[in-house]
Amino acid sequence: MASFVRYVLILAVIFGLMQLIPSYEKENPPVEPDKEIQAPKEVMEIFRRSCYDCHSNETRWPWYADVAPMKWVVRRDVIEGRKALNFSIWQEYDEQRKKELKKRIFRSVFMAMPPPQYLWLHPDAKLSEEEKERVRLWASDGKGYIEDMDVR
Ligand code: HEC
Repeated sequence: MASFVRYVLILAVIFGLMQLIPSYEKENPPVEPDKEIQAPKEVMEIFRRSCYDCHSNETRWPWYADVAPMKWVVRRDVIEGRKALNFSIWQEYDEQRKKELKKRIFRSVFMAMPPPQYLWLHPDAKLSEEEKERVRLWASDGKGYIEDMDVR
């Protein structure tokens, strides 16, 4: 019994020390409406529901974004996600970057986005086949396919 207590205490100390390890800032930069992406309502609804937590400045931070080790994953996802694509500052991207990002969005909804660890905790964020199609149509300007998909 004594060794069990010691074991639990050691775990508690490790957990406590983990909380001291610094991580990314948990912040939502201010949103300026004229910089936000403009898309039809039915596309915006999908982005807001399934993508905005990592790809906008309007992240809905869950409670575990304050608890190590989960917070390391959540905060990293948001920082890296915003770096790759931020719908809140879409209008600041030049035409070339918008075009490239639309290709990547077109491709990402096939399987990669939203990421599996997020879907596991947010099953509502999963896109139906119809919703994927809606996003693809928007991303390809209504064509449903994209030429020269060789984005890297
Ligand atoms: C849990 C956070 C999270 C959610 C939710 C999420 N993403 Fe991402 N996304 C990331 C991260 C992190 C990256 C950058 C690293 C990478 O490429 O894996 C990324 C990268 C991307 C990229 C650029 C990478 C590429 O070349 O394809 C696109 C496009 C993208 N996401 C689209 C979306 C779309 C569309 C949604 C909603 C349907 C979405 N993401 C939802 C975390 C997320």
